[in-house]
Amino acid sequence: RTRIAQLYAHMDEFGDKTVTVAGWVRSIRDMKNFGFVVLNDGSCFKDLQVVMNREKLANYEEVAALTVGSALIITGELALTPDRPQPFELQAKTIVVEGAAQPDYPMQKKRQTREFLRTQQHLRSRTNLFRAVFRVRSVAAFAIHRFFQERGFVYVNTPIITASDAEGAGEMFRVTTIDPANPPLTQDGKVDYGQDFFGKQTNLTVSGQLQAENFAMSFGDVYTFGPTFRAENSNTRRHAAEFWMVEPEMAFCDLEGEMDVSEQMLKYVINYVMEHCPDELDMFNKFVDKGLKERLQHVATSDFARVSYTDAVKILEDAQAAGHKFEYPVKWGIDLQTEHERYLTEQHFKKPTFVTNYPKDIKAFYMRQNDDGKTVAAADCLVPGIGEIIGGSQREERLDVLERRIEELGMDKDQYKYYLDLRRYGTCHHAGFGLGFERLVMYLTGVDNIRDVLPHPRTVGNADF
Ligand code: 4AD
Ligand code: MG
Repeated sequence: RTRIAQLYAHMDEFGDKTVTVAGWVRSIRDMKNFGFVVLNDGSCFKDLQVVMNREKLANYEEVAALTVGSALIITGELALTPDRPQPFELQAKTIVVEGAAQPDYPMQKKRQTREFLRTQQHLRSRTNLFRAVFRVRSVAAFAIHRFFQERGFVYVNTPIITASDAEGAGEMFRVTTIDPANPPLTQDGKVDYGQDFFGKQTNLTVSGQLQAENFAMSFGDVYTFGPTFRAENSNTRRHAAEFWMVEPEMAFCDLEGEMDVSEQMLKYVINYVMEHCPDELDMFNKFVDKGLKERLQHVATSDFARVSYTDAVKILEDAQAAGHKFEYPVKWGIDLQTEHERYLTEQHFKKPTFVTNYPKDIKAFYMRQNDDGKTVAAADCLVPGIGEIIGGSQREERLDVLERRIEELGMDKDQYKYYLDLRRYGTCHHAGFGLGFERLVMYLTGVDNIRDVLPHPRTVGNADF
């Protein structure tokens, strides 16, 4: 069996040769003496046009009556057609109907809404849009590994089940084997998690950062790339309960260095996808987001903006004073909302923007405190159309400052025993960031809903299949 991608890549070698291809019907036309099948086998974005001759093809009637979605194995001769829109067609000699699609096949040739297709998670990857999205997702994942591996970073797999809350935000899914109908109880009548599987309360990880830091203190530069879970009750276009995060962690690195690596990584992935997914990007550019290609090209070749939180708030306050309406009023100390992030990147800087040195009270406990006593060395990367795509920081490497912060926030110090240990045994300044992989895929494709870049999305109220 030859894959259609190979036919496009080496058409001169295949011209006039007999080949066998296997794939799924995208459309069928019966023109009396002739018929056409458009076939896709998933190997590339492009389809293969197959010509059937009623006289020569034994089961012409059977094939001509098939529905879109049917699986066929076709043997024929590849005819080069340089003066037609498609460079070649396959003249069928035999067609094996491997699996006919029943007439109630929900995927149709005409364009269907993304809302409807979300109800067809098992079939939607057969559409042009979703095949393109998930190929870009795959290629972008590979590009991320390549970027870090080329630079000597070690890939670390951090645990999915953990007893610590890496972000200290309490947005965790509980993991337990306790039967809610019959839980073991302590003497004062509470559920006794000491008798649970791990002997304590555990959760699905919200970030691999804390464990990545362990490895950064031995390998220097490391990264994670894995599933991450958040029980945030936010039903938005950019939040999922299960998403993938890329978390590099770098020893002897400060906030500037961390931003440099973030920026280089994003540009590398954009370039890699532009090079390896041209057909997919053409499609997105035509049907999903008209400015996509030009924007990606621009982003790949120009510097990102960098602005402090304090200056960003001034920009937003000026906009507010000039009459721009924000749903959440802006003042120093607020957590930036999506509308603020979008204003900064879409109206003001008009490009990806790092916002740095946020107030410590809206950021995680592990971020390094600045000398002003009010802010921490954080850097979020915001992009037009989405808002925050990367959250990063320099970490607090000073034992006394970190211990004080954990106490101040009323967090359970025992949970962070190992984390504090790192500050006892050869601590050093270090930094890292977390890239939301789905948000990157949204950015690369122009698809504006996280549900449409996750193969099987889990969001509030949705965990089918
Ligand atoms: O900003 P966050 O919460 O940072 C961390 O978790 C750090 N531990 C990262 C680090 O420094 N190693 O999350 C990082 C990124 C966000 O910028 C966003 O892109 C993505 O993860 N993200 C989500 N993506 C989809 N759905 C959600 N519910 C997300 N929450 C965060
Ligand atoms: Mg964040």
